[in-house]
Formats: sequence, structure tokens, C-alpha cells
Amino acid sequence: MTIDNQQYQVQGVPLLDIASEYGTPVYVYDGQKILDQVATLQNAFSSVNLKIKYATKALSNINILKLMKKAGTGVDAVSIEEVKLCLHVGYEPSEIMFTPNCVAFEEIQEAVDLGVMINIDNIPMLEHFGTYYGNSVPLCIRLNPHILAGGNAKISVGHIDSKFGISILQLKHVLKIVEVHNLKVAGLHVHTGSDILDAEVFLKGAEILFDAAKEFKDLQFLDFGGGFKVGYKEGDITTDMVEVGRKVSAAFKEFCKNYGRELEIWFEPGKFLVSECGYLLVNANVVKSTPASTFIGVDSGLNHLIRPMMYDAYHGVENISRVTGPDRVYTIVGYICETDTIAADRKLKEVKEGDVLAIKNAGAYGFSMASNYNSRLRPAEVLVLDGKAHLIRARESFEDILRHQIDIGL
Ligand code: LLP
Repeated sequence: MTIDNQQYQVQGVPLLDIASEYGTPVYVYDGQKILDQVATLQNAFSSVNLKIKYATKALSNINILKLMKKAGTGVDAVSIEEVKLCLHVGYEPSEIMFTPNCVAFEEIQEAVDLGVMINIDNIPMLEHFGTYYGNSVPLCIRLNPHILAGGNAKISVGHIDSKFGISILQLKHVLKIVEVHNLKVAGLHVHTGSDILDAEVFLKGAEILFDAAKEFKDLQFLDFGGGFKVGYKEGDITTDMVEVGRKVSAAFKEFCKNYGRELEIWFEPGKFLVSECGYLLVNANVVKSTPASTFIGVDSGLNHLIRPMMYDAYHGVENISRVTGPDRVYTIVGYICETDTIAADRKLKEVKEGDVLAIKNAGAYGFSMASNYNSRLRPAEVLVLDGKAHLIRARESFEDILRHQIDIGL
């Protein structure tokens, strides 16, 4: 987002024009920013055989998936529905990794039938897989590395108390099952968490993967998960992709030399690729002063962007209706019947009723975590590409609220 000619713009398209054409609330994505992020990651790992598996769950509009495909990424899917979405937009099964957690074995079978790589995250499932498929279907095994890292407890998933993955301490058990069923283990995977700043955490994960990998003879890839930290506020320190790329690539090359074969290195970023590309544009419905603060009540809330309430996440906010004028301090809240504070005590250009605010970092886990709570409609989505705004999802209508409800005639 830039300010040009006294207007907030994305690729030369004024955001206020998008708000007036498509209404608010509306999610806007800068396609160029996504392509730039993909390129940054590709460049950071240019000396190794990198495969990016975009974490579909972060933002799963079919046009975003198609853009990723054009940019040369594969995908990581966590539900059979995400697998089907990826196939729908033209991904080859071989480009899709299925990383489910706590699903029924039938869902895994369905994914096998669709031809995608399965990432197994618990021992009972590994047993079922072995019994059912033996060595006829290659698979990946998700290990829990017992590393505590990540932006907050809810998104730290690689520690010993986490439900995800097979404990690295259970490796012997895994090896036994692999041997008994003669399993074809093509990959090993770790994902430590989200909002991980430090290259050392990725290196620690790498060491654990390398150690485990020595026990498997036919590996084709090692998957380091996602979790790179992006900037949310000005001055935020973010994952230094050049440093992570340099350090992890060096360690990976050394490992491959000892392993005797060049493997692929996989990453599954969500936020890194799509967080910063997104803006949620909302209308200031009410400017309400109390003895304690001045609230701006907007036409959105935890139903559209749950991250501030669920993770205490910080999202930058701008009043895009005004580029000049005095600053005032506001608390921005939603219209949901809950305390849905989007941002507290923020300095904005003085807000008048009807102004449009842009909530930043809304690309990842924004629309994809939206709901119809309070029987509200989910927003429209717009993708800006090559200097042109495209509506990529229509705003929901009241009929959508009634859809699938069955009136039993009471
Ligand atoms: N791979 C696996 C196995 C994952 O579970 C996740 C995220 C990712 C990759 C991508 O992580 P990322 O690069 O986006 O950090 N809704 C939360 C984040 C939850 C992430 C869940 N898993 C948030 O909005 O902060």
C-alpha cells in the first residue's frame, strides 16, 4: 500500500475506489506482493532443490491458488476439501501434500485415491496405512521435534505437549512399523509453529530431521514446515530469509552429501506468502467517545478477522479516507455482540463517520477463518493484479444465511 496523489493505493488502484465499487467490508489482496514473496523465498534457497508447498489454509480463494501455481509453488492441504480445491484449480496430485491432523482413516484413503502425498501424523494412522497399503504407496511422516517456538501458545505446535506429529522419542516404534510393513517413506516433516523469528529454530528443526533421516534409506525430500515471521507493526523484526536460506541450505547440503543423494527441501509457508498482501477495508459506522476512550465501531469484527481476539495479534490500521489532518487516538472495535477489539489505542488521522479504515496483514488467516457469527455475511474479496482490481468472491447475501437450514414446519 502506497500513498500517491493523496490516495492510498495498491498497484496504482485507489483503495477507496475498491471500497466504493464493491462496498465494505471487503478483503483486498495485492497479487504482486504475493509474487514478490514467492520470489524472495525462491532466491533465498536457490542453491538447493527447493519446493514451496503453500499452506492453503492461510488463504484459499481459487484465484490465489492459481496465482501460486503460476508462480511455481506446490501446496500443502490440511483437509480433503483443500486437496479437492487444489486439484480443482489444476494442481497435479504430485504437487499436493496432504497434512491432516486427527482425521478418520477414510479421509486419508480418499486422498490416496486422488494420488496426493500423505503426511502421517500419528502412530495408529501409520499402522493403518501400513496394513492397508504396505509398500504400494509412498508416504511422509510428520515428526514432533519437541521444540517450543512460535508467536504464542496457540500457534506453537512442535513442543512435547502438542497434539501434532509423532514424537521424535517414538522414532524406534516408527521404524518398527516401517520395517514390518516395508513402508516406502519418501519424506520426513517437522513444523514447529507460526511467527518464528529465529534462524536457529529452523536449524534446530533441521538437526532433528537430519538425525531421524539417517534411519530411512529411500527419502526424496525433507519438509521443514512453515512459520516464518512477517512484520505486523512498523519496526517489527521479521525472519531474515536470506540468513535462514544461507544457514539452512548449508546444513542441508552437508546432510545430502553424507546421505549420498541430493534430496528436495520443502517449506510450507502461509503467512510469509500472503499475510502482508491483504487489507480488510471496513467502514467507520460510529465514532463513540466515553469517559475512558474513543471507540470507532466498524462494519466488521471477529466474524471476519478473528486474529486479534484469538491470538492477541497486532494488525496495523490506517484511516484511508484521510491522508492529512490531525491525529487522534482510537480503539477500533467490531459490530459483533462480543468484545471484539480489533486494535486498541491507535493513532489515526481524525476519523469521521463513513471513513474507510484499512486493517493490514489481513491476507493470512483472515477470510479463511471468517464465519457467519451473529448471522452476518462474509465479505467480498478483491485481487489486484497488473494494476487492475478483480472481484474474486462475491459478498454473501441473506440467502446464504438460510442456505442449508431446513425448516421443519414448526
Ligand atoms: N505447515 C503446517 C503443518 C501448519 O500447521 C501450518 C500452520 C503451516 C505450515 C503454515 O504456517 P505459517 O507459515 O502460516 O505460519 N491461524 C493462526 C496460524 C495457525 C497456523 C496453523 N498451521 C494465525 O492466524 O496466526
